[in-house]
Amino acid sequence: MLWERIVILDFGSQYTQLIARRIRENKVFAEIVPYNTPIDSIDREHLIGIILSGGPATVLGEDSPKIGKEIFALGVPVLGICYGMQLMAYLLGGKLGSSVTREYGRAQFHIKRKSSLLEALPDNSTVWMSHGDSVETVPDGFVVTGETDTLSVASFEEPEKALYGLQFHPEVAHTEFGNIIIENFLVRICYARQDYTPASFVEHTVGRIRNEVGDRKLIMGVSGGVDSTVAAVLIHRAIGRRLVPVFVDNGLLRENEANDVLRMFRSTLSIPVRFVDASDRFLKNLSGVSDPEEKRKVIGHTFIEVFEEVANSIPGICCLGQGTLYPDLIESVSFRGPSATIKSHHNVGGLPEHMRLTLVEPLKELFKDEVRSVGRSLEIPNPVLMRHPFPGPGLAVRIIGEVTKDKLDILRKVDNIFVQALKDEGLYDKVWQAFAVLLPVHSVGVMGDERTYGNAVVLRAVVSQDGMTADWAHLPYDFLARVSGKIINSVKEVNRVAYDISSKPPSTIEWE
Ligand code: XMP
Repeated sequence: MLWERIVILDFGSQYTQLIARRIRENKVFAEIVPYNTPIDSIDREHLIGIILSGGPATVLGEDSPKIGKEIFALGVPVLGICYGMQLMAYLLGGKLGSSVTREYGRAQFHIKRKSSLLEALPDNSTVWMSHGDSVETVPDGFVVTGETDTLSVASFEEPEKALYGLQFHPEVAHTEFGNIIIENFLVRICYARQDYTPASFVEHTVGRIRNEVGDRKLIMGVSGGVDSTVAAVLIHRAIGRRLVPVFVDNGLLRENEANDVLRMFRSTLSIPVRFVDASDRFLKNLSGVSDPEEKRKVIGHTFIEVFEEVANSIPGICCLGQGTLYPDLIESVSFRGPSATIKSHHNVGGLPEHMRLTLVEPLKELFKDEVRSVGRSLEIPNPVLMRHPFPGPGLAVRIIGEVTKDKLDILRKVDNIFVQALKDEGLYDKVWQAFAVLLPVHSVGVMGDERTYGNAVVLRAVVSQDGMTADWAHLPYDFLARVSGKIINSVKEVNRVAYDISSKPPSTIEWE
Protein backbone atom coordinates (compact mmCIF):
# COMPACT_ATOMS: atom_id res chain seq x y z
CA MET A 1 0.00 0.00 0.00
CA LEU A 2 1.24 3.51 -0.76
CA TRP A 3 -0.07 6.62 0.89
CA GLU A 4 -1.96 9.32 -0.83
CA ARG A 5 0.43 12.16 -1.36
CA ILE A 6 0.72 15.85 -1.95
CA VAL A 7 3.53 16.82 -4.30
CA ILE A 8 5.25 20.13 -3.62
CA LEU A 9 6.97 21.68 -6.61
CA ASP A 10 9.94 23.52 -5.15
CA PHE A 11 10.70 26.95 -6.55
CA GLY A 12 13.44 27.54 -3.99
CA SER A 13 11.65 29.02 -0.99
CA GLN A 14 13.39 28.83 2.36
CA TYR A 15 10.04 27.53 3.65
CA THR A 16 9.54 24.58 1.27
CA GLN A 17 10.53 21.97 3.86
CA LEU A 18 8.16 23.59 6.32
CA ILE A 19 5.24 23.10 3.92
CA ALA A 20 6.04 19.39 3.79
CA ARG A 21 6.26 19.17 7.57
CA ARG A 22 2.95 20.94 8.11
CA ILE A 23 1.23 18.58 5.68
CA ARG A 24 2.71 15.51 7.32
CA GLU A 25 1.60 16.81 10.71
CA ASN A 26 -1.89 16.46 9.27
CA LYS A 27 -1.18 12.76 8.59
CA VAL A 28 -0.86 13.23 4.84
CA PHE A 29 2.34 12.26 3.04
CA ALA A 30 4.09 15.13 1.25
CA GLU A 31 6.97 14.94 -1.15
CA ILE A 32 9.16 17.79 -2.39
CA VAL A 33 10.33 17.65 -6.00
CA PRO A 34 12.21 20.21 -8.10
CA TYR A 35 9.85 22.54 -9.98
CA ASN A 36 10.99 21.20 -13.34
CA THR A 37 10.29 17.54 -12.58
CA PRO A 38 8.46 16.13 -15.64
CA ILE A 39 4.79 15.67 -14.81
CA ASP A 40 4.87 12.18 -16.30
CA SER A 41 7.38 11.08 -13.69
CA ILE A 42 5.05 11.97 -10.82
CA ASP A 43 3.16 9.00 -9.40
CA ARG A 44 -0.37 10.06 -10.38
CA GLU A 45 -2.11 7.09 -8.88
CA HIS A 46 -1.61 8.36 -5.34
CA LEU A 47 -1.49 12.07 -6.07
CA ILE A 48 -4.26 14.02 -4.34
CA GLY A 49 -2.96 17.57 -4.61
CA ILE A 50 -0.12 19.80 -5.77
CA ILE A 51 1.46 22.77 -4.06
CA LEU A 52 3.58 25.31 -5.90
CA SER A 53 6.04 26.67 -3.33
CA GLY A 54 7.28 30.20 -2.91
CA GLY A 55 10.65 31.19 -4.28
CA PRO A 56 13.15 34.05 -4.43
CA ALA A 57 12.71 34.80 -8.16
CA THR A 58 10.35 37.25 -9.87
CA VAL A 59 7.91 35.58 -12.26
CA LEU A 60 8.41 38.32 -14.86
CA GLY A 61 12.18 38.24 -14.48
CA GLU A 62 14.45 36.66 -17.06
CA ASP A 63 15.23 32.99 -16.42
CA SER A 64 12.62 32.75 -13.67
CA PRO A 65 11.68 29.12 -12.95
CA LYS A 66 8.48 28.25 -14.85
CA ILE A 67 6.34 25.22 -15.52
CA GLY A 68 3.83 24.31 -18.24
CA LYS A 69 0.11 24.97 -17.92
CA GLU A 70 -0.66 21.23 -18.09
CA ILE A 71 -0.28 21.02 -14.34
CA PHE A 72 -3.60 22.86 -13.90
CA ALA A 73 -5.43 20.38 -16.08
CA LEU A 74 -4.48 17.20 -14.23
CA GLY A 75 -7.74 17.22 -12.34
CA VAL A 76 -6.07 17.44 -8.91
CA PRO A 77 -6.29 20.56 -6.72
CA VAL A 78 -3.38 22.99 -6.95
CA LEU A 79 -2.43 25.53 -4.30
CA GLY A 80 0.09 28.23 -5.22
CA ILE A 81 1.88 29.96 -2.37
CA CYS A 82 3.51 33.37 -2.94
CA TYR A 83 5.71 32.84 -6.05
CA GLY A 84 3.54 29.80 -6.79
CA MET A 85 0.41 31.95 -6.71
CA GLN A 86 1.93 34.58 -8.99
CA LEU A 87 3.08 31.91 -11.42
CA MET A 88 -0.41 30.39 -11.47
CA ALA A 89 -1.91 33.81 -12.18
CA TYR A 90 0.64 34.53 -14.91
CA LEU A 91 0.28 31.17 -16.66
CA LEU A 92 -3.52 31.36 -16.67
CA GLY A 93 -3.74 34.89 -18.09
CA GLY A 94 -3.83 37.14 -15.02
CA LYS A 95 -1.70 40.26 -14.63
CA LEU A 96 1.18 40.77 -12.22
CA GLY A 97 2.54 44.01 -10.89
CA SER A 98 5.40 45.05 -8.70
CA SER A 99 4.02 48.49 -7.98
CA VAL A 100 3.23 47.93 -4.33
CA THR A 101 6.07 48.31 -1.90
CA ARG A 102 7.85 45.10 -1.11
CA GLU A 103 6.25 43.48 1.85
CA TYR A 104 8.03 41.35 4.43
CA GLY A 105 6.64 40.35 7.76
CA ARG A 106 3.22 40.46 9.38
CA ALA A 107 0.13 41.81 7.65
CA GLN A 108 -3.58 41.88 8.44
CA PHE A 109 -5.56 39.58 6.18
CA HIS A 110 -9.25 40.26 5.58
CA ILE A 111 -11.60 37.65 4.14
CA LYS A 112 -13.73 39.04 1.30
CA ARG A 113 -15.58 35.96 0.21
CA LYS A 114 -16.50 32.56 1.58
CA SER A 115 -13.99 29.91 0.57
CA SER A 116 -13.36 26.26 1.46
CA LEU A 117 -9.69 27.11 1.87
CA LEU A 118 -10.45 29.81 4.44
CA GLU A 119 -13.23 27.99 6.26
CA ALA A 120 -13.23 28.47 10.06
CA LEU A 121 -10.94 31.51 9.88
CA PRO A 122 -12.04 34.77 11.51
CA ASP A 123 -12.70 37.67 9.13
CA ASN A 124 -9.45 39.34 10.15
CA SER A 125 -6.21 37.61 11.09
CA THR A 126 -2.44 38.00 10.99
CA VAL A 127 -0.48 36.46 8.12
CA TRP A 128 3.19 36.34 7.16
CA MET A 129 4.17 38.02 3.89
CA SER A 130 7.44 37.84 2.01
CA HIS A 131 7.13 39.07 -1.55
CA GLY A 132 8.03 41.74 -4.08
CA ASP A 133 5.48 41.06 -6.82
CA SER A 134 1.76 40.70 -6.49
CA VAL A 135 -1.27 39.74 -8.56
CA GLU A 136 -3.02 42.80 -10.04
CA THR A 137 -5.69 41.12 -12.12
CA VAL A 138 -6.85 37.56 -11.52
CA PRO A 139 -7.22 35.15 -14.48
CA ASP A 140 -10.67 34.66 -16.05
CA GLY A 141 -12.93 32.54 -13.90
CA PHE A 142 -11.00 33.30 -10.69
CA VAL A 143 -12.40 35.23 -7.73
CA VAL A 144 -10.58 37.18 -5.05
CA THR A 145 -11.22 35.73 -1.59
CA GLY A 146 -9.05 37.93 0.62
CA GLU A 147 -7.08 41.16 0.80
CA THR A 148 -4.67 42.96 3.10
CA ASP A 149 -4.35 46.67 3.82
CA THR A 150 -1.89 47.03 0.94
CA LEU A 151 -2.82 44.17 -1.39
CA SER A 152 -6.13 43.88 -3.18
CA VAL A 153 -5.43 40.24 -4.09
CA ALA A 154 -4.06 38.37 -1.10
CA SER A 155 -5.86 35.13 -1.95
CA PHE A 156 -7.78 33.91 -5.00
CA GLU A 157 -9.41 30.77 -6.33
CA GLU A 158 -11.20 29.01 -9.15
CA PRO A 159 -13.14 26.46 -7.07
CA GLU A 160 -14.62 24.62 -10.07
CA LYS A 161 -11.12 23.66 -11.17
CA ALA A 162 -9.82 23.46 -7.58
CA LEU A 163 -7.11 26.06 -8.17
CA TYR A 164 -6.12 28.23 -5.19
CA GLY A 165 -3.54 30.91 -4.50
CA LEU A 166 -2.23 32.56 -1.34
CA GLN A 167 0.08 35.54 -1.39
CA PHE A 168 1.16 34.84 2.20
CA HIS A 169 2.82 31.81 3.79
CA PRO A 170 0.38 29.52 5.66
CA GLU A 171 3.27 27.17 6.57
CA VAL A 172 4.99 29.76 8.77
CA ALA A 173 4.09 29.89 12.46
CA HIS A 174 3.56 33.68 12.29
CA THR A 175 0.50 33.11 10.10
CA GLU A 176 -2.03 32.85 12.88
CA PHE A 177 -4.38 30.33 11.26
CA GLY A 178 -1.92 28.81 8.78
CA ASN A 179 -2.46 25.29 10.08
CA ILE A 180 -6.20 25.57 9.58
CA ILE A 181 -5.67 26.74 6.00
CA ILE A 182 -3.38 23.79 5.30
CA GLU A 183 -5.83 21.39 6.92
CA ASN A 184 -8.66 22.91 4.86
CA PHE A 185 -6.68 22.36 1.67
CA LEU A 186 -5.99 18.74 2.60
CA VAL A 187 -9.37 17.78 4.00
CA ARG A 188 -11.97 20.02 2.31
CA ILE A 189 -10.31 20.36 -1.08
CA CYS A 190 -8.12 17.28 -1.62
CA TYR A 191 -10.37 14.99 0.50
CA ALA A 192 -7.29 13.45 2.10
CA ARG A 193 -7.78 10.22 4.06
CA GLN A 194 -5.15 11.26 6.61
CA ASP A 195 -3.78 7.77 7.01
CA TYR A 196 -0.08 8.59 7.12
CA THR A 197 0.78 7.57 10.69
CA PRO A 198 3.92 6.21 12.34
CA ALA A 199 2.28 2.79 12.56
CA SER A 200 1.37 2.80 8.85
CA PHE A 201 4.91 3.97 8.06
CA VAL A 202 6.36 1.03 9.97
CA GLU A 203 4.07 -1.48 8.28
CA HIS A 204 4.75 -0.10 4.82
CA THR A 205 8.50 0.29 5.31
CA VAL A 206 9.02 -3.19 6.72
CA GLY A 207 7.40 -4.56 3.56
CA ARG A 208 9.51 -2.32 1.37
CA ILE A 209 12.77 -3.37 3.08
CA ARG A 210 11.83 -7.04 2.61
CA ASN A 211 11.40 -6.41 -1.10
CA GLU A 212 14.62 -4.45 -1.42
CA VAL A 213 16.82 -6.89 0.48
CA GLY A 214 15.17 -10.18 -0.52
CA ASP A 215 17.07 -13.06 1.06
CA ARG A 216 20.40 -11.22 1.13
CA LYS A 217 22.41 -10.05 4.15
CA LEU A 218 22.70 -6.43 5.14
CA ILE A 219 25.46 -4.75 7.14
CA MET A 220 24.94 -1.52 9.00
CA GLY A 221 27.03 0.67 11.27
CA VAL A 222 25.15 1.66 14.43
CA SER A 223 26.20 4.34 16.89
CA GLY A 224 23.41 4.32 19.45
CA GLY A 225 22.12 7.60 17.98
CA VAL A 226 18.46 8.08 17.10
CA ASP A 227 18.68 7.69 13.33
CA SER A 228 20.82 4.56 13.09
CA THR A 229 18.92 2.92 15.96
CA VAL A 230 15.47 3.51 14.44
CA ALA A 231 16.74 2.39 11.02
CA ALA A 232 18.29 -0.76 12.51
CA VAL A 233 15.13 -1.69 14.42
CA LEU A 234 13.02 -1.29 11.25
CA ILE A 235 15.45 -3.37 9.21
CA HIS A 236 15.60 -5.98 11.95
CA ARG A 237 11.81 -6.24 11.89
CA ALA A 238 11.96 -6.80 8.18
CA ILE A 239 14.83 -9.27 7.80
CA GLY A 240 15.67 -10.44 11.32
CA ARG A 241 19.10 -12.01 11.73
CA ARG A 242 20.12 -11.22 8.18
CA LEU A 243 20.78 -7.73 9.54
CA VAL A 244 24.37 -7.50 10.78
CA PRO A 245 24.65 -4.36 12.89
CA VAL A 246 28.21 -3.32 13.67
CA PHE A 247 29.17 -1.02 16.50
CA VAL A 248 32.72 0.31 16.26
CA ASP A 249 34.35 1.67 19.40
CA ASN A 250 36.70 4.33 18.04
CA GLY A 251 38.01 5.22 21.49
CA LEU A 252 36.45 8.67 21.13
CA LEU A 253 33.19 7.85 22.87
CA ARG A 254 31.77 9.20 26.11
CA GLU A 255 31.91 7.59 29.53
CA ASN A 256 30.37 4.06 29.44
CA GLU A 257 28.96 4.76 25.98
CA ALA A 258 30.12 1.52 24.34
CA ASN A 259 28.62 -0.60 27.13
CA ASP A 260 25.38 1.37 27.20
CA VAL A 261 24.88 1.05 23.45
CA LEU A 262 25.64 -2.66 23.46
CA ARG A 263 23.27 -3.25 26.35
CA MET A 264 20.53 -1.29 24.64
CA PHE A 265 20.81 -3.32 21.42
CA ARG A 266 21.35 -6.71 22.99
CA SER A 267 19.07 -6.57 26.03
CA THR A 268 16.47 -3.89 25.41
CA LEU A 269 15.99 -4.30 21.67
CA SER A 270 17.08 -7.95 21.38
CA ILE A 271 19.23 -7.20 18.34
CA PRO A 272 22.54 -9.06 18.32
CA VAL A 273 25.08 -6.39 17.49
CA ARG A 274 28.69 -7.05 16.55
CA PHE A 275 31.18 -5.12 18.66
CA VAL A 276 34.53 -4.06 17.23
CA ASP A 277 36.99 -2.43 19.59
CA ALA A 278 39.21 -0.40 17.28
CA SER A 279 40.11 2.26 19.83
CA ASP A 280 43.86 1.59 19.77
CA ARG A 281 43.92 1.81 16.00
CA PHE A 282 42.07 5.13 15.95
CA LEU A 283 44.28 6.60 18.67
CA LYS A 284 47.43 5.43 16.94
CA ASN A 285 46.34 6.99 13.64
CA LEU A 286 45.47 10.22 15.45
CA SER A 287 48.78 10.59 17.21
CA GLY A 288 50.53 13.82 16.28
CA VAL A 289 47.39 15.17 14.50
CA SER A 290 46.06 18.48 15.79
CA ASP A 291 44.34 20.11 12.78
CA PRO A 292 40.53 19.62 13.11
CA GLU A 293 39.90 18.72 9.47
CA GLU A 294 42.86 16.36 9.45
CA LYS A 295 41.42 14.68 12.55
CA ARG A 296 38.09 14.20 10.77
CA LYS A 297 39.85 12.74 7.74
CA VAL A 298 41.91 10.30 9.77
CA ILE A 299 38.83 9.19 11.73
CA GLY A 300 36.75 8.85 8.55
CA HIS A 301 39.40 6.75 6.79
CA THR A 302 40.03 4.57 9.79
CA PHE A 303 36.30 3.92 10.13
CA ILE A 304 36.07 2.85 6.51
CA GLU A 305 39.05 0.51 6.87
CA VAL A 306 37.59 -1.13 9.96
CA PHE A 307 34.08 -1.36 8.52
CA GLU A 308 35.34 -2.85 5.28
CA GLU A 309 37.35 -5.49 7.12
CA VAL A 310 34.28 -6.53 9.08
CA ALA A 311 32.12 -6.62 5.95
CA ASN A 312 34.69 -8.72 4.12
CA SER A 313 34.87 -11.17 6.99
CA ILE A 314 31.17 -12.01 6.73
CA PRO A 315 30.17 -14.07 3.71
CA GLY A 316 27.22 -12.96 1.62
CA ILE A 317 26.91 -9.28 2.60
CA CYS A 318 25.21 -7.48 -0.29
CA CYS A 319 23.43 -4.49 1.25
CA LEU A 320 24.37 -1.52 3.38
CA GLY A 321 21.85 0.08 5.76
CA GLN A 322 22.01 3.80 6.50
CA GLY A 323 20.02 6.16 8.72
CA THR A 324 19.91 8.95 6.14
CA LEU A 325 17.09 11.46 6.73
CA TYR A 326 15.03 13.57 4.32
CA PRO A 327 16.79 16.89 4.99
CA ASP A 328 20.12 15.19 4.19
CA LEU A 329 18.81 14.45 0.73
CA ILE A 330 16.84 17.48 -0.31
CA GLU A 331 18.10 20.71 1.22
CA SER A 332 16.53 23.43 -0.86
CA VAL A 333 18.92 22.73 -3.74
CA SER A 334 16.18 20.74 -5.40
CA PHE A 335 15.09 24.13 -6.73
CA ARG A 336 18.05 24.05 -9.08
CA GLY A 337 16.50 21.07 -10.69
CA PRO A 338 16.86 17.35 -10.75
CA SER A 339 20.43 17.62 -11.96
CA ALA A 340 21.55 19.35 -8.77
CA THR A 341 23.99 17.24 -6.83
CA ILE A 342 22.40 15.57 -3.88
CA LYS A 343 24.44 16.08 -0.74
CA SER A 344 26.08 12.89 0.38
CA HIS A 345 25.29 12.14 3.96
CA HIS A 346 28.39 12.70 6.03
CA ASN A 347 28.20 9.22 7.44
CA VAL A 348 27.92 7.65 3.99
CA GLY A 349 30.49 10.04 2.58
CA GLY A 350 33.47 7.94 1.93
CA LEU A 351 32.32 4.33 1.72
CA PRO A 352 34.33 2.93 -1.16
CA GLU A 353 32.44 2.21 -4.33
CA HIS A 354 34.19 -1.10 -4.87
CA MET A 355 32.23 -2.47 -1.93
CA ARG A 356 29.28 -2.52 -4.34
CA LEU A 357 26.64 -2.75 -1.67
CA THR A 358 22.99 -1.94 -2.35
CA LEU A 359 22.07 1.05 -0.20
CA VAL A 360 18.99 0.63 2.00
CA GLU A 361 17.82 3.86 3.64
CA PRO A 362 14.46 3.31 5.34
CA LEU A 363 14.27 6.81 6.86
CA LYS A 364 15.18 8.80 3.81
CA GLU A 365 11.71 10.32 3.52
CA LEU A 366 11.44 11.39 7.17
CA PHE A 367 12.17 14.51 9.18
CA LYS A 368 13.89 14.14 12.56
CA ASP A 369 10.71 14.53 14.62
CA GLU A 370 9.01 11.90 12.45
CA VAL A 371 11.91 9.53 13.11
CA ARG A 372 11.26 9.98 16.82
CA SER A 373 7.54 9.21 16.36
CA VAL A 374 8.37 6.10 14.34
CA GLY A 375 10.84 5.15 17.08
CA ARG A 376 8.09 5.51 19.67
CA SER A 377 5.77 3.33 17.66
CA LEU A 378 8.60 0.73 17.53
CA GLU A 379 8.79 1.01 21.34
CA ILE A 380 12.38 2.22 21.36
CA PRO A 381 13.03 3.65 24.84
CA ASN A 382 12.57 7.40 25.17
CA PRO A 383 16.11 8.17 26.40
CA VAL A 384 17.42 6.79 23.09
CA LEU A 385 14.96 8.83 21.05
CA MET A 386 15.71 12.03 22.94
CA ARG A 387 19.49 11.57 22.93
CA HIS A 388 21.46 14.66 21.94
CA PRO A 389 23.27 14.51 18.59
CA PHE A 390 26.88 13.35 18.93
CA PRO A 391 29.35 13.97 16.11
CA GLY A 392 30.90 11.02 14.25
CA PRO A 393 34.46 12.14 15.20
CA GLY A 394 33.31 12.12 18.82
CA LEU A 395 35.41 13.61 21.58
CA ALA A 396 38.29 14.16 19.13
CA VAL A 397 36.73 17.46 18.04
CA ARG A 398 36.19 18.43 21.68
CA ILE A 399 39.86 18.13 22.60
CA ILE A 400 41.57 21.12 21.13
CA GLY A 401 44.91 20.03 19.71
CA GLU A 402 46.31 16.51 19.72
CA VAL A 403 44.11 13.72 21.07
CA THR A 404 45.66 11.44 23.70
CA LYS A 405 44.26 8.78 25.96
CA ASP A 406 44.93 10.89 29.07
CA LYS A 407 43.08 13.88 27.66
CA LEU A 408 40.18 11.64 26.63
CA ASP A 409 39.95 10.29 30.16
CA ILE A 410 39.80 13.79 31.65
CA LEU A 411 37.22 15.00 29.15
CA ARG A 412 35.04 11.93 29.69
CA LYS A 413 34.84 12.57 33.41
CA VAL A 414 33.99 16.26 32.98
CA ASP A 415 31.45 15.62 30.22
CA ASN A 416 29.76 12.93 32.28
CA ILE A 417 29.37 15.18 35.32
CA PHE A 418 27.83 17.94 33.20
CA VAL A 419 25.45 15.74 31.21
CA GLN A 420 24.39 13.69 34.23
CA ALA A 421 23.63 16.89 36.16
CA LEU A 422 21.47 18.13 33.27
CA LYS A 423 19.56 14.85 33.37
CA ASP A 424 19.22 14.84 37.16
CA GLU A 425 17.87 18.38 37.19
CA GLY A 426 15.44 17.92 34.29
CA LEU A 427 17.36 20.18 31.90
CA TYR A 428 18.67 17.61 29.41
CA ASP A 429 15.59 17.59 27.18
CA LYS A 430 15.45 21.39 27.17
CA VAL A 431 18.73 21.75 25.26
CA TRP A 432 19.72 20.57 21.79
CA GLN A 433 23.22 19.56 22.75
CA ALA A 434 25.43 19.85 25.82
CA PHE A 435 29.04 18.81 26.26
CA ALA A 436 32.45 19.77 27.58
CA VAL A 437 35.54 20.88 25.68
CA LEU A 438 39.11 20.38 26.89
CA LEU A 439 41.33 23.36 26.15
CA PRO A 440 45.05 23.17 25.47
CA VAL A 441 45.47 25.71 28.25
CA HIS A 442 46.66 25.32 31.82
CA SER A 443 45.79 27.79 34.49
CA VAL A 444 46.98 28.53 37.98
CA GLY A 445 44.75 27.68 40.90
CA VAL A 446 44.91 27.02 44.58
CA MET A 447 43.59 24.01 46.46
CA GLY A 448 44.04 23.93 50.23
CA ASP A 449 47.51 25.35 50.77
CA GLU A 450 48.77 24.19 47.45
CA ARG A 451 49.18 26.05 44.20
CA THR A 452 47.85 24.02 41.25
CA TYR A 453 48.51 24.22 37.56
CA GLY A 454 45.60 22.39 35.96
CA ASN A 455 43.50 22.05 32.82
CA ALA A 456 40.83 24.52 31.77
CA VAL A 457 37.55 23.13 30.43
CA VAL A 458 34.61 24.82 28.77
CA LEU A 459 31.00 23.73 29.12
CA ARG A 460 28.79 24.28 26.08
CA ALA A 461 25.01 23.91 25.92
CA VAL A 462 22.88 25.20 23.06
CA VAL A 463 19.25 25.42 22.09
CA SER A 464 18.39 24.90 18.44
CA GLN A 465 15.74 23.58 16.04
CA ASP A 466 18.01 21.83 13.60
CA GLY A 467 21.64 22.56 14.47
CA MET A 468 21.93 25.05 11.60
CA THR A 469 21.56 28.01 13.94
CA ALA A 470 21.78 27.89 17.71
CA ASP A 471 21.69 30.05 20.80
CA TRP A 472 23.69 29.33 23.95
CA ALA A 473 21.42 27.84 26.58
CA HIS A 474 20.63 30.20 29.43
CA LEU A 475 21.20 27.57 32.13
CA PRO A 476 20.53 28.74 35.69
CA TYR A 477 23.58 30.22 37.45
CA ASP A 478 23.14 28.06 40.52
CA PHE A 479 23.06 24.95 38.32
CA LEU A 480 26.30 26.03 36.62
CA ALA A 481 27.81 26.75 40.03
CA ARG A 482 26.96 23.23 41.25
CA VAL A 483 28.38 21.60 38.12
CA SER A 484 31.56 23.68 38.23
CA GLY A 485 32.11 22.82 41.88
CA LYS A 486 31.57 19.13 41.26
CA ILE A 487 33.97 19.07 38.30
CA ILE A 488 36.77 20.84 40.15
CA ASN A 489 36.30 18.77 43.26
CA SER A 490 36.18 15.42 41.54
CA VAL A 491 38.41 15.73 38.46
CA LYS A 492 41.79 16.47 39.95
CA GLU A 493 43.40 17.47 36.63
CA VAL A 494 40.92 20.35 36.15
CA ASN A 495 41.05 23.62 38.09
CA ARG A 496 39.05 25.99 35.90
CA VAL A 497 35.59 25.77 34.30
CA ALA A 498 34.17 28.31 31.83
CA TYR A 499 30.73 28.46 30.17
CA ASP A 500 30.52 29.24 26.46
CA ILE A 501 28.12 32.11 25.75
CA SER A 502 28.46 32.31 21.97
CA SER A 503 25.69 31.69 19.45
CA LYS A 504 25.77 30.14 16.00
CA PRO A 505 26.41 32.05 13.82
CA PRO A 506 29.03 33.41 14.09
CA SER A 507 30.39 30.61 16.30
CA THR A 508 29.74 26.94 15.56
CA ILE A 509 28.29 24.47 18.04
CA GLU A 510 31.45 22.35 18.24
CA TRP A 511 34.74 24.05 19.00
CA GLU A 512 36.52 22.34 16.13
P1 XMP B 1 28.64 22.83 14.10
O1 XMP B 1 29.82 22.65 14.98
O2 XMP B 1 28.99 22.81 12.64
O3 XMP B 1 27.72 21.55 14.35
O4 XMP B 1 27.82 24.03 14.47
C1 XMP B 1 26.41 21.38 13.88
C2 XMP B 1 25.95 19.97 14.27
O5 XMP B 1 26.73 18.99 13.56
C3 XMP B 1 27.46 18.17 14.46
N1 XMP B 1 28.79 17.96 13.86
C4 XMP B 1 29.17 16.82 13.28
N2 XMP B 1 28.52 15.63 13.11
N3 XMP B 1 30.42 14.76 12.01
C5 XMP B 1 29.18 14.60 12.51
O6 XMP B 1 28.63 13.50 12.38
C6 XMP B 1 31.14 15.91 12.13
O7 XMP B 1 32.29 16.02 11.68
C7 XMP B 1 30.46 16.99 12.81
N4 XMP B 1 30.84 18.26 13.10
C8 XMP B 1 29.79 18.83 13.75
C9 XMP B 1 27.52 18.95 15.76
O8 XMP B 1 27.70 18.11 16.88
C10 XMP B 1 26.19 19.67 15.74
O9 XMP B 1 25.14 18.82 16.17
